[in-house]
Amino acid sequence: MNTIENLEWRYATKKFNENKISSADLNRILEAINLSASSTGLQPYRVFVVENPSIRKELGKDSFNAQISESSHLLVFAAFEKITIGQIENYMLHIAGERGVPVEALADFKAALVGGLLSRSDEENFNWAAKQAYIALGTALIAAAELKIDSTPMEGFDAAKFDSLLGLTEKGLKSVVTLALGYRDHENDAFAKLKKVRLPLGDFATFID
Ligand SMILES: Cc1cc2nc3c(=O)[nH]c(=O)nc-3n(C[C@H](O)[C@H](O)[C@H](O)COP(=O)(O)O)c2cc1C
Repeated sequence: MNTIENLEWRYATKKFNENKISSADLNRILEAINLSASSTGLQPYRVFVVENPSIRKELGKDSFNAQISESSHLLVFAAFEKITIGQIENYMLHIAGERGVPVEALADFKAALVGGLLSRSDEENFNWAAKQAYIALGTALIAAAELKIDSTPMEGFDAAKFDSLLGLTEKGLKSVVTLALGYRDHENDAFAKLKKVRLPLGDFATFID
């Protein structure tokens, strides 16, 4: 199947069956997420994989999204609360190591990041980091669909509870969006049979001559 067919196949699953996704498939999705583009390449967010049923039950308590606990795995995308000089310096060292260049050769790039990012408020940088995490969410949706794994992107969760229960706060992270993964319960999920609703392409995309 091609990408368009896979995207037509996917839908925001409301009810999952009991089947678990394999660790090989899970790793493929994580690899795809890690390959997402991010502004400056800094990857200012992290992904947490939650499988443990009792933790997910607690996370999902009081949420309208039963998928938090009733799915195979839950991915939590968490963005850094602030961007620091240490993060930028570690990133420079990482690039230098991966590309076999002296870190000094990256001085201009480092100065651009320091100037561009550290001049902004922590709130602005957190919002920027969260946008990068949403790009990763999009990658995950596509990667899952290509593997015929169902998924639900979810903003309907208690971020403060997630941050505390998953130990994100002490890592300087805040949860921004989540993705349930698993297999649809085709019989019992009314949404599985609904026609996908999207704008006609002519209304959605404009060609500028
Ligand atoms: C960022 C984001 C947050 C969403 N939050 C929820 C949610 O909390 N619960 C839910 O059931 N669906 C959620 N959705 C799913 C959307 O409602 C769904 O993608 C949209 O209605 C289009 O339908 P489709 O994805 O099935 O094609 C979310 C989607 C996105 C992209």
